[in-house]
Amino acid sequence: MQLAQSLQAIKPSYIREILSVANSADVISLAGGLPDGDHFPLALMEQSIQRLSSRAELFQYGSTAGYGPLLDYFRECYQLPKEQDALVCTGSQQGLDLIARVFLDAGDKVVMEAPSYLGALQVFGLAQASIESIQQRADGPDLQELEQCFANKTIKMFYAVPDFHNPTGVCWSLEVRQKVAQLCQQYNVALIEDAPYRELRFSGTELPLVSSFCPEHSIVLRSYSKIATPGIRLGLVSGPKAWVSALERVKQGADLHSSQPMQAVLLDLLQHDDFPNHLNNLRELYRKRCQYLANQLIEKLPNNCQFEQVEGGMFIWLQLPDCDVDSLAKQMLNVGVAVVPSSVFYQSTAGKQSAFRLNFTNACDSDLALAVERLAQVLEAVK
Ligand SMILES: Cc1ncc(COP(=O)(O)O)c(C=O)c1O
Repeated sequence: MQLAQSLQAIKPSYIREILSVANSADVISLAGGLPDGDHFPLALMEQSIQRLSSRAELFQYGSTAGYGPLLDYFRECYQLPKEQDALVCTGSQQGLDLIARVFLDAGDKVVMEAPSYLGALQVFGLAQASIESIQQRADGPDLQELEQCFANKTIKMFYAVPDFHNPTGVCWSLEVRQKVAQLCQQYNVALIEDAPYRELRFSGTELPLVSSFCPEHSIVLRSYSKIATPGIRLGLVSGPKAWVSALERVKQGADLHSSQPMQAVLLDLLQHDDFPNHLNNLRELYRKRCQYLANQLIEKLPNNCQFEQVEGGMFIWLQLPDCDVDSLAKQMLNVGVAVVPSSVFYQSTAGKQSAFRLNFTNACDSDLALAVERLAQVLEAVK
């Protein structure tokens, strides 16, 4: 059977190729966006999981919007105003997919910062949207470029990851947040604020969600993959009632609802007395690993390899001298280190930086040190 046209346009993912070998025991992987499995809060989930077998009602079909008590908790916890609703989804990735299906027609224009989250590029590509790339600066999108784009083109939505961007780790400043919100209102552009790393701030001060400055123009995507576990596949979409109601209709056709037993377990976890401790420990672990990796990079790599310090999230964006990053990433694999080359994060060749995305959350210090040592050797050999 012939593939749908929307799929024919999608290139096979190079990152899949890397990740398929990255899992082998003799490869140190800084490639995936994986939280540290040794620090999953399984002990805090244990009682809740054991109790499941006596809660048959959770194993019945449930409501598409989500498990009622969990939705009540979210409404309270995120202080959702009465004009807003929320929908539990199967990972925030499903939220993104639903948004594309509900709001995008082929050819609709979606703005993204470049580089961009690969999963979003895939979703918008499948929806046959036209992607407009805006350069990213150290404190967020280039505002002049963004305003020109909003003013001169009919933009449907701006997809953004303002807290510890994937892949760059950039966190938008307060000024940028306020200005973007104002532009979205002025030009009637919907902001899709994807915030899976927001709770992973390990230094600096928390900043308001961009959507808090333009709630009637925004949808927020939250994920429980990084603070609970990715395998439970739970996320949350919230936004204006009419928009969430449309998303719910499409979710019904997609999977009826997300797993109810897992939603009940997530609720117990989020309400567990020790959950705040778990979060603090996780932030501290990631802060130390990030610092360790940063120190290794400074110590072992030549000066023409640069990176900005990050205040949270999971990645360091290592900028390299102009080079063929795909071939460099393959050479890294040959010496037993998996990294993701910057090429996969760009929609077009314009403004492409040569860089590697380095994940610091799922490797111990000795592996981080060894990986940087090998990177230094590979860079030395290609000089
Ligand atoms: C920016 C961004 N959005 C969404 C997701 C998907 O998260 P989830 O596991 O909740 O589907 C990821 C995963 O790494 C991500 O980096």
